[in-house]
Amino acid sequence: MERFDFYSPTKILFGKGREEEVGAQVKAFGGTKAVVVYGGKSAKESGLISRVEASLAAAGVEYLSLGGVQPNPRLSLAREMVEKGKAFGADFLLAVGGGSVIDTAKGVAHGVANPDVDIWDFWMGKEKLTKTLPIGVVLTISAAGSELSDSAVLTDEEHHAKRGLNTDLQRPCFAIMNPELTYTLPKYQVACGVVDMLMHTLERYFNPVTCNALTDEIAESVMRTVVKFGPTAVADSHDYQAMSEIMWAGALSHNNLTGLGNVKDFTCHQLGHEIGGMFDVAHGATLSAVWCSWARYCLSVNPARFARLGEKVFGLVNSGDVYADGNAAIDAAEQFFADLDMPTCLADLNIGEVTEEVLNALADGFTRGRTRTFGQFKNLDYEDALTIYSMANR
Ligand code: NZQ
Ligand code: ZN
Repeated sequence: MERFDFYSPTKILFGKGREEEVGAQVKAFGGTKAVVVYGGKSAKESGLISRVEASLAAAGVEYLSLGGVQPNPRLSLAREMVEKGKAFGADFLLAVGGGSVIDTAKGVAHGVANPDVDIWDFWMGKEKLTKTLPIGVVLTISAAGSELSDSAVLTDEEHHAKRGLNTDLQRPCFAIMNPELTYTLPKYQVACGVVDMLMHTLERYFNPVTCNALTDEIAESVMRTVVKFGPTAVADSHDYQAMSEIMWAGALSHNNLTGLGNVKDFTCHQLGHEIGGMFDVAHGATLSAVWCSWARYCLSVNPARFARLGEKVFGLVNSGDVYADGNAAIDAAEQFFADLDMPTCLADLNIGEVTEEVLNALADGFTRGRTRTFGQFKNLDYEDALTIYSMANR
């Protein structure tokens, strides 16, 4: 087991009706003027935003509601919201939505707290974030795990660059998780979320550190839960138990619990972000589209690890031939994605013909113009990335 810090400061309020407490929570965490960030339409149409506003008003918290966040959230909108937040004098950010909304709220919090800095400089590493505003969350989709994570992902749409920022400063102070708020999700979004949360643990599970028994067991139980309840959730978004299980699993999948003592890999996320930045497709879909190709390319690094995944997570009976068992595990994961109607190759993403030029551009983006290699389980250079993208291009 490697050295680790575990910092998960977010207060979780889980269960039916908990959003009624949002005003009191904002107040308890020091908010007096809250910017409420939400998405395109779902939270407005369902009446959730009105209920949140009523709760804030009842707690004596002033608010400014700003909507319009799209999936693969845009830097330009975050910048606009920063200016509005500054003019309002915001001292709290409340995100009502999923990963895109939460990450935008994180960006707005940084911009308001650092009025002289362009927020993208934090993402590009030109400025170090040392202060921000507190962020609260009312979660409406189980997927990205931003409600507990130290991460925020924004897209500079002008340059097709999707980039993440990691800092403990942006872990939310509270997260309200009512599974009933996810009942209105379309099947496709539930499925994207199931893939994303599974991938957050897979990206930690495949790493160079071995002999990490407890963390492995935690990771496997989280993944088994997602594999068991994910299909039910996709089939029926009104199944309270299934939606509860994936909501809790999604949160635990990305607060680092499933990787303690390991090193994070996150190669497939980096491969996927290049696709999301270029083609504006759903994050979860980009992950299932590349994972199987990544896995087959990397199988030889530690075939026993893949074999263990098959046995512990997909319930396969292993033969003892680690290559055969590892391949069977990858096939099982691929089938799991396919059964959820999630893409398992680039063609399934409906992004048209993916030419050699596009594949080269993706590999170029992944390696930041051939200036970096990436990956802990297997460190990938430009040629490796190009091979994986090409394998996924079928
Ligand atoms: O905008 P609205 O109308 O709300 O529609 C959204 C959106 O179209 C819809 N939706 C959300 N809740 C709903 C609902 N529709 C009906 N009923 C509801 N209750 O779902 C669509 C997707 O929303 P989005 O916020 O984009 O989903 P998700 O939570 O999957 O977030 C994806 C974003 O998070 C980033 C991804 O890269 C992507 O940009 N990630 C953030 C991470 C983090 N901050 O820790 C980690 C992840 O790996 C990921 O990279
Ligand atoms: Zn993800």
